[in-house]
Amino acid sequence: MRIEVLGSSAGGGLPQFNCNCSNCKAYREGKSTVKRRTQSSITLSEDGENWVLFNASPDILEQIHNSSFLHPKKLRENRIKAIVFMDAQIDHTTGLLGLREGCPHEVYCTKEVNEELNTSFPLFKMLESWNGGGVKYNEVFPNASKFKIPVMPNHEFFAHSLISNAPPYSLYRDNPRVGDNIGITIINKKTKKRLFYLPGLGVLENHIIEEMAKSDLLLIEGTLWTNDEMIKGRFSNKLGTDMGHVPLNGENGLIKVLDTLKKPRKILIHINNTNPILDESNKEYKELISHGIEISYDGMRIDI
Ligand code: MLT
Ligand code: MN
Ligand code: ZN
Repeated sequence: MRIEVLGSSAGGGLPQFNCNCSNCKAYREGKSTVKRRTQSSITLSEDGENWVLFNASPDILEQIHNSSFLHPKKLRENRIKAIVFMDAQIDHTTGLLGLREGCPHEVYCTKEVNEELNTSFPLFKMLESWNGGGVKYNEVFPNASKFKIPVMPNHEFFAHSLISNAPPYSLYRDNPRVGDNIGITIINKKTKKRLFYLPGLGVLENHIIEEMAKSDLLLIEGTLWTNDEMIKGRFSNKLGTDMGHVPLNGENGLIKVLDTLKKPRKILIHINNTNPILDESNKEYKELISHGIEISYDGMRIDI
């Protein structure tokens, strides 16, 4: 399986248009230890020709432009054969509008995400007016059975419900349902190698930690360094856990749990521009790296 990280940032990207935090400022000033990052998305392929997109970020067109393996070879050709949505968040779905010329898209999501994208944020409905007509919806059932995606016939997919939050626009904000947020395990049937992708995780439940321990590769959210990062920095009045994001540092942080896992390679994704780990000259970056945890970057390729 070939994995390409199209975007490694949380909502807003780095630099975020209205942000002058130390990372966004440093990037604009050309500091070499801070990278530009678009909003989080990955794509997978087993043949290098046909791709499954996980989340459609608002930056999708720039991401495709920067990824020659996604460019058309025929006069008109869409190499993204399926799109999986992990939730209905703006930073994970809005890019579908940018792909409207390729309708109809095969989409995979839970019924809760399908409902959001037909009602509160009706992207799927709106797209019915384009070319081939909207999307072809394939329901994903969390904690149920493995499912297949035809362009990756040698792989199996399994969705895990995650406790996080529903999008800020949702009727279910602060009262999320099973199915509003999922993580997905992707298993290569031949090699048995397992990728576990969790770009939005609020609570470290035991069934999720057990799944992490079995994985060969984790692509897991690293949104915030501390739970009160947004409050302390005067960016917002919300804790990370209010937004559905477990912090990296601290007694109840993700690093403590990742330290207990021997098997997987551990790579962070969906990292907010305020997170001090995004400047490689900061002590927090050095601390993270000392735990054997990596930070994904736009254009990162991993083969497992
Ligand atoms: C999140 O990850 O909490 C959301 O992407 C927030 C947002 O919509 O900006
Ligand atoms: Mn997000
Ligand atoms: Zn910033």
